Amino acid sequence: MTDEPLLKVENLQTQFFTEEGTVRAVDGISFEVNEGEIVGLVGESGAGKSVATSSIMRLVETPGQIVGGTVTYKGTKIVDIEEGPDGQPRPSEEMLTDEEMREQIRGNEIAIIFQDPMEALNPVFKVGAQLREFIELNRDVGSAEAREIAVDMLREVGIPEPVKRYDSYPHQFSGGMRQRVLIAMALACEPSLIIADEPTTALDVTVEGQIIDLVHDLEAKYDTSFVWVTHDLGVVAEICDRVNVMYLGEIIESADVDDLFHDTKHPYTEALLQSIPRPDQTVEELEPIVGVMPEAINPPSGCRFHTRCPDARTVCREFHPTEQDVSEAVTATHRVACVKYESIGYEDARPLETEATDDFGSGLIDASGEDA
Ligand SMILES: Nc1ncnc2c1ncn2[C@@H]1O[C@H](COP(=O)(O)OP(=O)(O)OP(=O)(O)O)[C@@H](O)[C@H]1O
Ligand code: SF4
Ligand SMILES: [Mg+2]
Repeated sequence: MTDEPLLKVENLQTQFFTEEGTVRAVDGISFEVNEGEIVGLVGESGAGKSVATSSIMRLVETPGQIVGGTVTYKGTKIVDIEEGPDGQPRPSEEMLTDEEMREQIRGNEIAIIFQDPMEALNPVFKVGAQLREFIELNRDVGSAEAREIAVDMLREVGIPEPVKRYDSYPHQFSGGMRQRVLIAMALACEPSLIIADEPTTALDVTVEGQIIDLVHDLEAKYDTSFVWVTHDLGVVAEICDRVNVMYLGEIIESADVDDLFHDTKHPYTEALLQSIPRPDQTVEELEPIVGVMPEAINPPSGCRFHTRCPDARTVCREFHPTEQDVSEAVTATHRVACVKYESIGYEDARPLETEATDDFGSGLIDASGEDA
């Protein structure tokens, strides 16, 4: 047993080179996943969650490219981008090749579950056959044994009558059942880490609850770690040990789940929390987050949240905050990127009028740079 995390993401950067310009979809994120831990990646649509997970799996499609950072899995560099002599990003010598990634990592070490099960399941083949083929491809077993494992896995994830359902087509399963099949597929090769990209978003609340219970059981039984992507902090509270909150390509707060909910530091996390139902709140107290997330192609200067932040001040428009360690407990790390936690004059700066402070009226400085 080592102290090294199972997965370590350091300064990961992924960009899309489009005709309109460069989209900095993931812009220098760092986080860790320890053995047996469920780590959440949360944020609104467009925050960069899916690009982050596909970067870790090295499944970014053109015009996208990982342009910087390192991802270390069990001591192996699955991503390691350095600057070449021409100034362009290039893989280091230590980084696994595409073939090594395919043969050694994807499926049998790290598995991914996508938001839409129909993306992962082929509609023209029977569910059992797809599962069996996947097992044969990734494990050293023959067809008959792979079939047995497939049926066992279907039973394990709660598919009733798995022998019979083995011969069903994907469209004969409900959404929740299809998602169970994907979990079975992810588990089939006994990976140490499963990356789940919004696996319950398309499901109704009851089925979502069942899937979450299933994941808890499986985590305990197989000691699998998870990266759990969601835009729903309610799900985070149910399932995660640690949470990373993303905004416009960056992680702006990361903490143990209890600290995130009860000792919230970042105004964006605060706003996210205000927008979800909690046991200690009435529905009337819920407030949707004001404004829309700006385009990643041309993010706001300084703190990227300053156009929507109720606490924004002039300094927030100029200064780009970096993650600060604000941990109080010795064991749990709590990090936040907000100028309030840096000594660069937040206290003395003038308030900014932002989308969240419209009703403050004039006298404030407009987030665009004009005096209101
Ligand atoms: N193929 C692509 N070409 C150009 N830009 C892209 C591409 N894929 C993603 N992006 C951009 O990258 C940013 C991050 O997208 P991503 O899909 O990771 O968001 P997300 O947090 O997963 O959102 P959602 O909750 O909607 O799934 C967005 O600005 C998106 O427009
Ligand atoms: S840096 Fe300023 S704008 Fe950004 S979250 Fe903190 S207070 Fe708000
Ligand atoms: Mg996504």
